[in-house]
Amino acid sequence: MKILITGVAGFIGSNLAIRLLARGHTVIGIDNLAYGFLRNIETISHHPEFTFHLGDIANPHILNGVKADIIVHLASQKIPRYSNALRTLDENYLMLRNIVQKCLLDKSKIIFASTSDVYGKNPKIPFNENSDLVMGPTTVKRWAYALSKIYGEQFIIANHDEYGLNYTITRFFGSYGPHQNLTWWGGPQSVFIDKAIKNEPIEVHGDGSQTRTFTFVDDTVSALILCIENEKSNNEIFNTGSKLNSEISIKDLAVLIWKLINGKDSEPNLNFIPYSQFGNYEDVMRRVPDISKLCSTFDFQPSWDLNEGLKVTIDWQKQFYK
Ligand SMILES: NC(=O)c1ccc[n+]([C@@H]2O[C@H](COP(=O)([O-])OP(=O)(O)OC[C@H]3O[C@@H](n4cnc5c(N)ncnc54)[C@H](O)[C@@H]3O)[C@@H](O)[C@H]2O)c1
Repeated sequence: MKILITGVAGFIGSNLAIRLLARGHTVIGIDNLAYGFLRNIETISHHPEFTFHLGDIANPHILNGVKADIIVHLASQKIPRYSNALRTLDENYLMLRNIVQKCLLDKSKIIFASTSDVYGKNPKIPFNENSDLVMGPTTVKRWAYALSKIYGEQFIIANHDEYGLNYTITRFFGSYGPHQNLTWWGGPQSVFIDKAIKNEPIEVHGDGSQTRTFTFVDDTVSALILCIENEKSNNEIFNTGSKLNSEISIKDLAVLIWKLINGKDSEPNLNFIPYSQFGNYEDVMRRVPDISKLCSTFDFQPSWDLNEGLKVTIDWQKQFYK
């Protein structure tokens, strides 16, 4: 198949491109390098079935002259935790509108990267695809990201209903691994690894009791490939997360990473930052997926556990400190 990946130089996009090429697909990648890196696609840059376009997907003309069976739309503004809300709302909409119009024109399928953040503050754990999406007030910036993705999901489904757009929506739960962004943009594990390697205090927001689940990128990409290659994914939404019982508090994640890097007898240096320092901010206290729909549709099981995935990630990240 010919697959167009938006955000190909980013974390998930580059890992996906590498695996798709190895499976014999043709890959066209677009990225404006706002948050991606050419180093992530270096190993495939000369692959005969790979083409890279540098450009902004918010500009509809960047899509002229490219055509694919499937567009995997990963490019996104991501974290309006304390800022960036306007750009997130604006750019995520503009990009998606352009991609959907392109899909309708070329009769391509869209695979849209949504997020676990759409479940917001829903206290009913675990979340399945029909769970309520519970947002906080619009005066709290952090919801702008989730809202941009909820809008995106509704926009895609409305285009399916009115114009027959073929889609799959994947709601990713905390993916991590090689090629992750080394700042907060890449998630807490990125910055915790950075601090633990430098032997500096790890900043934990709140008291660290908030929980998450983390998915090694190989499992995220395996799920995406199933959605690309298997028609059972058509016009469906899938939680894309890790194994059962993988919920971990952010404090425990910091301790685990510290000990994996500095030895199990080493005492981590944790610096707890009260949420009040971030202004009008709300965190999500628990976030756990029910991935039974993904598993039963494709007879699939995520295979990585957190310890093993973190070891691979730490080994990859260490190269930046030589
Ligand atoms: N990584 C996760 O854990 C996670 C969790 C939930 C959802 N997601 C979603 O998955 C997708 C991929 O995430 P990621 O972690 O790989 O992010 P990433 O930031 O590493 O990759 C996104 C890429 O898109 C590019 N991009 C952004 N705006 C662009 C624009 N206007 N034009 C062209 N390129 C642009 C960036 O330069 C970057 O390379 C995103 O849509 C994100 O919201 C990721």
